[in-house]
Amino acid sequence: MTKKKKHLAILGSTGSIGQNTLEVVRTFRDRFEITGLAAGGNTGLLAEQVAEFKPELAAVESEAKARDLRKKLGRRKIRILYGDEGYREVATSRRTDLVVSAITGIAGLKPTLAALEKGKDVALANKESMVVAGALIRKAAARSGSRVIPVDSEHSGIFQCLRGQNKKFIRKIYLTASGGPFFRVPLSELTGKSLAEALKHPRWKMGRKVTIDSATLMNKGLELIEARWLFNLQPWQLGVMIHPQSIVHALVEFQDGSVLAQLSQTDMRIPIQYALSYPERWPTPLPSLNLTEIRDLEFYPVEEQRYPLFGLATRALKAGLSFPVVLNAANEVAVQAFLEESISFGQIYDVVNYCVSRHRPRALRSLEEILLVDSETREQAHKYLKSKGNMT
Ligand SMILES: NC(=O)c1ccc[n+]([C@@H]2O[C@H](COP(=O)([O-])OP(=O)(O)OC[C@H]3O[C@@H](n4cnc5c(N)ncnc54)[C@H](OP(=O)(O)O)[C@@H]3O)[C@@H](O)[C@H]2O)c1
Repeated sequence: MTKKKKHLAILGSTGSIGQNTLEVVRTFRDRFEITGLAAGGNTGLLAEQVAEFKPELAAVESEAKARDLRKKLGRRKIRILYGDEGYREVATSRRTDLVVSAITGIAGLKPTLAALEKGKDVALANKESMVVAGALIRKAAARSGSRVIPVDSEHSGIFQCLRGQNKKFIRKIYLTASGGPFFRVPLSELTGKSLAEALKHPRWKMGRKVTIDSATLMNKGLELIEARWLFNLQPWQLGVMIHPQSIVHALVEFQDGSVLAQLSQTDMRIPIQYALSYPERWPTPLPSLNLTEIRDLEFYPVEEQRYPLFGLATRALKAGLSFPVVLNAANEVAVQAFLEESISFGQIYDVVNYCVSRHRPRALRSLEEILLVDSETREQAHKYLKSKGNMT
């Protein structure tokens, strides 16, 4: 057990991962100091977090939100920042050792890259960053010597199974997926599923965007691309199995036929704690996993007809280049439209397919090039929605 406190900055502290991270910090209060907290617009919750954890920096999405936060915090001594520059400062502040990257979507990319460039270790939940800029992130980490420690439960599982292993002996790595709320729904009923039904995830309690991505299985597609970059694997070395119990998070098959799997309770505090304590393991207050109570662990292949967005994601994984950027941007626009109830569940696929099938792939070498393809795709997706009468 280490005595030295870890200095932690959390990007996305008001979200599901952010709040679970603070829950872990509460459990191990004497091992952490919070240096910075960043959120989008939820200044109410952020103000409570600031009062409890006393960071020196806080950042929000806009100047108006910064004023609002200042009003809520009164004369408390803290620097309040906003926008890209604010997030960058929180991610790179001098005293920070580890940055938890848990903003949703491509909005998390710039501060994540900035943290790595500055030599900070990153506990990565924001998979979209890895999907659109995996090569840049790897390069930034290699250049500064910083580490990317996965938070996503499946990637944490792989990371743990690979500790002490030689990667040249890997045959295949499987990520598991719960299958989401529509795993057993008749195919004919899928396209009309409502927002409320899609938000009812059977196993995990998560933010709204990732919950919808889990219902379409796009989440698993994004995770395959994330795994490709995190572990430097070839697309054919990666696979997915549906595992409705969400107890086995990942399996690594080696060339000699041995398979190592990582199992745990379905609770994000476990992989988050591992990312925060790494390379140590600390005693969790959560109950032990009782397999004699659970008994059944089932595994099924992915039915692509049920999850056509997963099919698009695996195409993007194999094609590489700018495809994953287009996939992610179109998906972010489509999921947002579904969350606003301006398109149906089935139309999420239509939007992403429209953008991906029209895209002429190109190599992307810089953050600017990535952000350009991202914004071109968003514009194209919005135009498509407008042409279908779904947006004004
Ligand atoms: N939840 C999970 O169990 C889970 C598991 C594995 C991976 N992940 C990944 O972790 C990330 C976060 O997921 P989540 O479930 O925690 O999401 P969430 O509950 O929706 O929280 C998102 C966080 O990001 C902030 N945010 C959103 N858009 C922003 C923007 N444009 N600029 C700045 N801040 C912004 C939100 O701030 P406000 O609320 O203050 O606006 C909030 O703090 C996602 O990439 C997700 O795929 C999540």
